[in-house]
Amino acid sequence: MASAPLRFGLVGTGYWARITHAPALAAAPDIELAAVWGRSADAAAALAGTYGAGAHSGAGELGAFLDAVDGVAFAVPPDVQAPIAVAAARAGKHLMLEKPLATSVTGADEVASAVAESGVASAVFFTLMFRAEIRAWLAEVTARGGWLTGLTTWFGSSLGESSPFNTPWRREKGALWDIAPHAVSLLWAALGPVTGVTADAGPADVSHLILHHEGGASSTVTVSQNGGEAAAGFEAYLWSDRGRSVAPRMTPDPVPALSLALTELVANIRAGRTEHPCDVRFGRDVGHVVAEAQRQIDQRRRG
Ligand SMILES: NC(=O)c1ccc[n+]([C@@H]2O[C@H](COP(=O)([O-])OP(=O)(O)OC[C@H]3O[C@@H](n4cnc5c(N)ncnc54)[C@H](OP(=O)(O)O)[C@@H]3O)[C@@H](O)[C@H]2O)c1
Repeated sequence: MASAPLRFGLVGTGYWARITHAPALAAAPDIELAAVWGRSADAAAALAGTYGAGAHSGAGELGAFLDAVDGVAFAVPPDVQAPIAVAAARAGKHLMLEKPLATSVTGADEVASAVAESGVASAVFFTLMFRAEIRAWLAEVTARGGWLTGLTTWFGSSLGESSPFNTPWRREKGALWDIAPHAVSLLWAALGPVTGVTADAGPADVSHLILHHEGGASSTVTVSQNGGEAAAGFEAYLWSDRGRSVAPRMTPDPVPALSLALTELVANIRAGRTEHPCDVRFGRDVGHVVAEAQRQIDQRRRG
């Protein structure tokens, strides 16, 4: 007999929740979008109403929201996500998390510990890692091996005045926390675990990271969210003395990537598995790299 779909709740009612999480959850074959939680009652009711889900708002309704679901997807700022994710994991709910897990080592560690202690399944939406074209490229380059270095640049335009992503946490934390986790996750998968980072920053939200990988390869990440649309773009390639391999261009629609993440999370939940290449442990480890980069940048700024 087929089992009932898993009930998922969505934390967050902003632009990203509306254009990516809600449609991906609603379209997932083995998921029912059962509940929406937001800090604004009106926004929660509006988004929940679109999908026939229950609406919950404010800290006082978080318990009822968690009681109504088997899993929780997040589309709120990282340091809002982390404590709610801890509470959800402790309540036995599976987690579809956003990158970065938190903007502190402590915050990321607390989420990872709560997940480990409760035995729930987790996935972190490192978008590149769930894009079919990037998956195919990673399969090819890791099978080939022998790469000496990798270079990534990602110039976004989210801090532009008219961008829907020009949100308070992004203005405060910048591309280092918003975009660098994507690039680190890609280079980690392509070249092996990151064992060290050296970082510095430039003007206009530019951050530079040099990563060292287990096995000896090194790589670089340069990111900013402060450019205009005309200057935006993502480029990545791997290099060795035998040649180079350029990562494919990405399709703009994020929904198929989140749909794949949800499909893999549900498969793990159904199988009683908790490990995934992008699970909470990986999210924590990428967060540690970014936190160390932030520490060095702050230290250099202080002189
Ligand atoms: N994987 C990707 O490619 C990708 C792309 C975009 C975003 N993201 C991630 O999605 C998350 C949300 O990003 P965003 O820029 O859309 O964030 P945001 O607009 O700042 O926040 C989205 C939601 O969080 C709510 N919120 C903000 N502060 C809150 C607080 N203190 N308590 C409770 N709720 C609060 C907002 O409520 P109000 O509407 O009431 O302000 C809104 O519903 C981030 O983790 C980001 O990294 C990931």
